[in-house]
Amino acid sequence: MIKIENLSKSFGEHCVLRDINAEINKGEVVCLIGPSGSGKSTLLRCINGLEQYDGGRITIDGVPVDARSRQINTIRQRVSMVFQRFNLFPHRTALENVMEGPVHVKGVDVRSASARAKELLASVGLAEKTQHYPRQLSGGQQQRVAIARALAMEPEAILFDEPTSALDPELVGEVLSVMRTLADKGMTMVVVTHEMDFARSVSDRVLFLDGGRIAEQGPSRIVLTQPSNDRVRDFLKRVTHTESLSS
Ligand SMILES: Nc1ncnc2c1ncn2[C@@H]1O[C@H](COP(=O)(O)OP(=O)(O)O)[C@@H](O)[C@H]1O
Ligand SMILES: [Mg+2]
Repeated sequence: MIKIENLSKSFGEHCVLRDINAEINKGEVVCLIGPSGSGKSTLLRCINGLEQYDGGRITIDGVPVDARSRQINTIRQRVSMVFQRFNLFPHRTALENVMEGPVHVKGVDVRSASARAKELLASVGLAEKTQHYPRQLSGGQQQRVAIARALAMEPEAILFDEPTSALDPELVGEVLSVMRTLADKGMTMVVVTHEMDFARSVSDRVLFLDGGRIAEQGPSRIVLTQPSNDRVRDFLKRVTHTESLSS
């Protein structure tokens, strides 16, 4: 569904993605892991056209992603993004946040958008919170609203950029559990995460980025348990060590 060919991207002189080749199939969950600064966010942002790339090509079902083209809004509807910092509208309720896209971007009528938003909030465990404002919600609840908001656009794929990194440790589980349910339902997902248990148990494949290159990719069970690359091995040792310190 998402095809990345010989992708490269620089900021000025600084080359942050080099010759990336990867494919994400429909219904697949792919975790993108790697050290800070390795280009994970930039890659996600290129995939849904938030960032213009310099070389190579990204296509969604054969349609090229071009941040400068008119079709880019259609691409962004097909491929939603969930950020580390939930990015909800602070002066809108949970329900209004979820309805916003369908009403203003897709032109869905308010009544159906509201009914659908309620269903989606219920599906992420927030049936009781529809009238709450973001500041009245915990970080985990805000992130679940953000996921419901992404789903409201009926995307074919969702990109998650460290969706649990800004959360207190006790709130991480509720967000991962919503993501696990989505994965089970067959949603195509690309997830940047440091949650290795999630990566191991939910994702089909892992891409390991290092210095803007894919240093290793393959089935999660293999890459995360017996990596062939030293950098991957070191990285896993470090994140697993931090996980055990924080739990
Ligand atoms: N808008 C930008 N302008 C200049 N440099 C950037 C910009 N965004 C990211 N970078 C640089 O690109 C590199 C990769 O960043 P990023 O994709 O955010 O990495 P990651 O998400 O893996 O931590 C980093 O060196 C970062 O400083
Ligand atoms: Mg990042």
